[in-house]
Amino acid sequence: MVPFLRLGVNVDHVATIRNARGGGHPDPVQAALLAAKAGADGITAHLREDRRHISDADIERLMAEIAIPLNLEMAATDEMLEIALRHEPHAACIVPEKRQEQTTEGGLDAAGGHNHLAPFVAAMGEGGIRVSLFIEPDSRQLDAALSLGAPVVELHAGAYCDAVSEGRQKDSVTELLRIQNAAKYAVQIGLECHAGHGLGFDSVGAIAEIPEIAELNIGHFLIGEAIFSGLDSAIRRMRALMDRARAANTGAQSA
Ligand code: PXP
Repeated sequence: MVPFLRLGVNVDHVATIRNARGGGHPDPVQAALLAAKAGADGITAHLREDRRHISDADIERLMAEIAIPLNLEMAATDEMLEIALRHEPHAACIVPEKRQEQTTEGGLDAAGGHNHLAPFVAAMGEGGIRVSLFIEPDSRQLDAALSLGAPVVELHAGAYCDAVSEGRQKDSVTELLRIQNAAKYAVQIGLECHAGHGLGFDSVGAIAEIPEIAELNIGHFLIGEAIFSGLDSAIRRMRALMDRARAANTGAQSA
């Protein structure tokens, strides 16, 4: 049982809105500072190869201005490795990246991509960066993450979240079970387990209840919800839902 569930707030889509018009507003760094006040334990930002949202200058400013840990999401490329080693964020999450995709569509193939990924994981580990691999909730991928020497995995929660938001009850049960089993197995083999992608108010509870999960990374829903209720309120509500789910599970386990 991981006693405290951390919330990483992903500020990419603050930059998406800023970039729709150019200029500096809204500022993802200001959003990160606000997120910290609202209860975020860390900030996540994905510097994509095409710089469609977060820019190099955003990463520089996030490193300089925020007091909570930065998790840099990045593809396994030489350019991104150089940037990560230069900034030395607390953590880096390696994700697959395709130019045409709207968002990260699937997990990394840690098993099939072993030889390509190994030098990235090793170099960042040596640089003092806590490396995580964004993978599907699948034991083969977890074994591959372990053999690569990554200390952390982030389980792709997208299929579960899509099933919940589309009302596909049977699929949501199947997908939740996959995440529960993968989280249990990850911790059994010595990996720290995170989850993310697609989480919203309707889907966060069941994932937060999984006792092996140490961190959730949430972005798009919070930035979208901020339009209606403000970012502070959206983050506080998400935090409260996470805490309630985790506390309910702790109570159930100790009863
Ligand atoms: N975790 C990872 C590895 C991601 O790629 C993303 C999307 O950038 C997220 C979490 C956040 O997903 P969402 O924006 O759907 O909450």
